Amino acid sequence: MGVTITGWGTALPDKVITNADLEARLDTSDEWITERSGIRERRIGDSCAELAIGAGRAALARAGVAPADIDLLALATTTPDQSVPATSAHVAFELGLTCGAFDLNAACSGFVYSLVAASGMVGGHVGRVLLIGAERLSRITDWEDRSTAVLFGDGAGAVVLEAVDGPGDLLAWDLGADGSLRPILYADLHGYITMNGREVFRRAVRAMVDSAQATLERAGVSAAEVTLLVPHQANIRIIEAATQRLGIPMERTAVVLHRTGNTSSASIPLALADAAESGRLSPGDLVLLCGFGAGMTWASALVRWSAAA
Ligand code: UT7
Repeated sequence: MGVTITGWGTALPDKVITNADLEARLDTSDEWITERSGIRERRIGDSCAELAIGAGRAALARAGVAPADIDLLALATTTPDQSVPATSAHVAFELGLTCGAFDLNAACSGFVYSLVAASGMVGGHVGRVLLIGAERLSRITDWEDRSTAVLFGDGAGAVVLEAVDGPGDLLAWDLGADGSLRPILYADLHGYITMNGREVFRRAVRAMVDSAQATLERAGVSAAEVTLLVPHQANIRIIEAATQRLGIPMERTAVVLHRTGNTSSASIPLALADAAESGRLSPGDLVLLCGFGAGMTWASALVRWSAAA
């Protein structure tokens, strides 16, 4: 059996922090943040579970699926609310689910990792999966550190996956991890995000391009056939460099980071849902999801879009 995406949803906190707000409290400027990252505002607040519940509920409603019909919950997050239990247990309870539920941490690659993992579990008694990427990065951001405070935000995005006969719509994928690169981006327990931005930037472009190309090759699909690239939303310059190397123009790339900042596991489903909501996706379209993150991890997946506009 394969899977298809039948619903999507998002949740963002109400509180907006603009570049001007940051300019007022840090040695930074709207000009620097916009030019170097493309980010203009981000939203912060709500717990990881609250955001995940909001996005999950919206995705269930869009798919027209009752909580009782969900057979598995996967929550990608790098900022769970507690060490124990998994935040997915809280989310499952609030949504009225009693099926299997697990958290997955692959940093910003987490949503695609979860998509691949959950797809592999579909079949038999698992017919429908709720897949959520949710983050409260503001909890592990040092708001006095201008090199990271300007980049991150909170949010969640979710999709409903349903089993279909045949190979389904997940056409190919690529996952990877290079743990020797742990020191360039990390947060210790109870600590803040620490990052060598330049090094992450350099590695990120290469990892995204290599992973996306591996996925396309496995699917036997060319970059020209990709309708929409949905990259991890970390930095507009990373996205531009990757699209250039992949040969996919920015017009065929989903971008929401100017209003969300980098939301790690939530960034790809937020950008995907935005594209679906704004009518950019039609049945038959080929969508290439592609992320990288702390670890370093990378992940890409080629998905055929089947949901009606
Ligand atoms: O999800 C994955 C996580 N992270 C990423 O993907 C981040 C990847 N890296 C990046 O996005 C970029 O490297 C940054 C946006 C973090 C930084 O941009 P950059 O062009 O690589 O700048 P830089 O780190 O080389 O810093 C340039 C200058 C430095 O000053 P000097 O040494 O040239 O005097 C920094 O101290 O900019 C300074 N700087 C700032 N200035 C104003 C660093 N942060 C700021 C700031 N405002 N917020």
